[in-house]
Amino acid sequence: MSASKTDHPHPSPALLEKLSVREKIVIANWKMNGSAEANRLWAEEFLAKLGDLNCRTAVCAPFVYLSELVRLFKDTGVAVGAQTVSPRDQGAFTGEVSAAMLADIGMSLCLVGHSERRLVAHGIAPVVCVGETLAEREAGLTEAVVLRQLRTVLTRVPVAKLGAVAYEPVWAIGTGRTATPQAAQHVHAALRACLTEADAEAAAKTPLLYGGSVKPDNAHELFSQPDIDGGLIGGAALKAEDFHSVCAAARVD
Ligand code: 13P
Repeated sequence: MSASKTDHPHPSPALLEKLSVREKIVIANWKMNGSAEANRLWAEEFLAKLGDLNCRTAVCAPFVYLSELVRLFKDTGVAVGAQTVSPRDQGAFTGEVSAAMLADIGMSLCLVGHSERRLVAHGIAPVVCVGETLAEREAGLTEAVVLRQLRTVLTRVPVAKLGAVAYEPVWAIGTGRTATPQAAQHVHAALRACLTEADAEAAAKTPLLYGGSVKPDNAHELFSQPDIDGGLIGGAALKAEDFHSVCAAARVD
């Protein structure tokens, strides 16, 4: 059985073609939530108001729903992505899903804790997540930790191949605590500088997303920071209406 087919039956829109200046991206990360029926209703509600938005959008969902979401969002501009992927190409790895399989069903992006070269090889843009724990933050290590994480990725993947980098402070995920816009901007500027050192031209076009308790009422101030190009949204992406409000906050004034 081969997993290397690359012509996609329903290619997702290329969400992560590099940003043009000042475009914003907002990605829903549903985590382990949803059902076939709930997803269909979410899509219907979100698509009904999609025309109001001027940012790019994507939904990262559990594996079992991805094909159906590709169908629901076909030709709408909403990209579909996976939440993780196996580092292996194929073989006897029970329960794992490879990048080739994701490409095969039309994924254009995937969240990854560590970037994998094979994602790039299969044309899937890695959205690389970095972030410090509370203990690291309190020890004053935030910048050192996220830069170490990003540099590790850059030893394997060139900047031009990154789909996006998401700064997600661990202490802000699902806690209702969010980084202040200024603190998040500070980290994003450091991430941008690190990317710039490696490849200035690609760095300017690489989306830097903030994630961690982004809600309709705090999104605009976060997204208005010069180096925050959008968000990676968990809890507030579970209801189409809330996710739409967060996306609407990603307008460029
Ligand atoms: P919350 O928005 O629920 O804090 O989750 C953020 C996140 O982990 C997105 O990947």
